[in-house]
Amino acid sequence: MLKFENVSKVFDGGFQAVKSVSFDIPTGEFLVLIGPSGSGKSTTMKMINRMEPHTSGKITINGKDTNSYNASELRRNIGYVIQQIGLFPHYTIEKNIAIVPQLKGWNDKEIKARVNELLELVGLDPEIYATRYPKELSGGQQQRIGIARALAADPDVILMDEPFSALDPLTREQLQNEFLSLHKKLKKTIVFVTHDMDEALKMGDRIAIMKDGKLLQLDTPEKLLHEPAHGFVEEFIGKHRIIQNPELMPVIDIMSESVYTALPQWSPEKALSFIRQRKITNLIVVDDDNILVGIVSAHDLIKKLDDIKIIEEIMVSREPFLYDTSTAKDAIIMMNEAPYGILPVIDKTQKLVGVVTRGSLLSAMSSQWTETGDIQ
Ligand SMILES: Nc1ncnc2c1ncn2[C@@H]1O[C@H](COP(=O)(O)OP(=O)(O)OP(=O)(O)O)[C@@H](O)[C@H]1O
Ligand SMILES: [Mg+2]
Repeated sequence: MLKFENVSKVFDGGFQAVKSVSFDIPTGEFLVLIGPSGSGKSTTMKMINRMEPHTSGKITINGKDTNSYNASELRRNIGYVIQQIGLFPHYTIEKNIAIVPQLKGWNDKEIKARVNELLELVGLDPEIYATRYPKELSGGQQQRIGIARALAADPDVILMDEPFSALDPLTREQLQNEFLSLHKKLKKTIVFVTHDMDEALKMGDRIAIMKDGKLLQLDTPEKLLHEPAHGFVEEFIGKHRIIQNPELMPVIDIMSESVYTALPQWSPEKALSFIRQRKITNLIVVDDDNILVGIVSAHDLIKKLDDIKIIEEIMVSREPFLYDTSTAKDAIIMMNEAPYGILPVIDKTQKLVGVVTRGSLLSAMSSQWTETGDIQ
């Protein structure tokens, strides 16, 4: 879908920031670019929407050379989220989100409907927030608006340059989770820059490690942990991360036993307030005997709030799930099928005993992170 062929960038002073980088991202993939400061991550990303023109090589989107597009047209079709958010302070939230749809000539009614839909999608009530100004929102809320704005004109590709790094750890984790479930739903192709390895392992379908303008390895998180292709990659992932063998790791050792559950007959309002209080993104649904019946996501809940009476109506299948006799290897395989990045674990009587999340799985596979997991 998005293809780099021997792409290089030499800045005016002669400095080569990106050196013959090639990769191919399929539609809907979440690709994370990670590497030390100055390794060329942002430059690589900016070449996609031509904020930085590339010096040589070829970049194509759906087979079409990006150089053959009109530059502003290209940018309008690629969402872009940055760390400093970049909301216009004198525009209301509604106007901020509407910028690209307006440029694209949508009518007022279409724009209004889209703004409301997006605010709900990112978990903010349009009645309350549409007419506020950016400074009247918290950092996390502003970042949500940044995401809504990037999604506004329904682009196929979204570029995100350290979008969550300025947030406090709790808000960051919450937004990471929400964005992951949003991604599962919207299936956008995403290029996401970070320098936080934990974030990369959690978010990426695949991770590209850059150093000195070169792409050293591009693989799934599991493959990177198990088969680092380059000494630097191993070092970067963490010298002291002892890689465990997932086949020998019982799932009950890595699951979390404290699970927030709901009953199928709960009202959507009750479920939503429960979710909001606990800042979680999904609820595992069990019956009166604690037997697993399904999962409800916060996003579906917000979307369908007025259309349903009980949450069972929007509950998704309990599959895939794990038995308490499974191993971490089973969890790795199943995780690819898990719509919300969460796998319930049940015993042989079908009762819920815990959950495994993608993050907990990956951190269990590697031992304690060196010091902070942060490389700058
Ligand atoms: N306009 C420019 N002119 C010259 N050199 C530049 C320019 N922009 C970036 N560079 C250099 O290119 C290299 C790569 O920069 P880039 O911003 O892509 O790094 P990065 O990997 O995103 O780093 P960070 O993690 O600090 O954001 C750096 O050495 C930087 O100094
Ligand atoms: Mg950067």
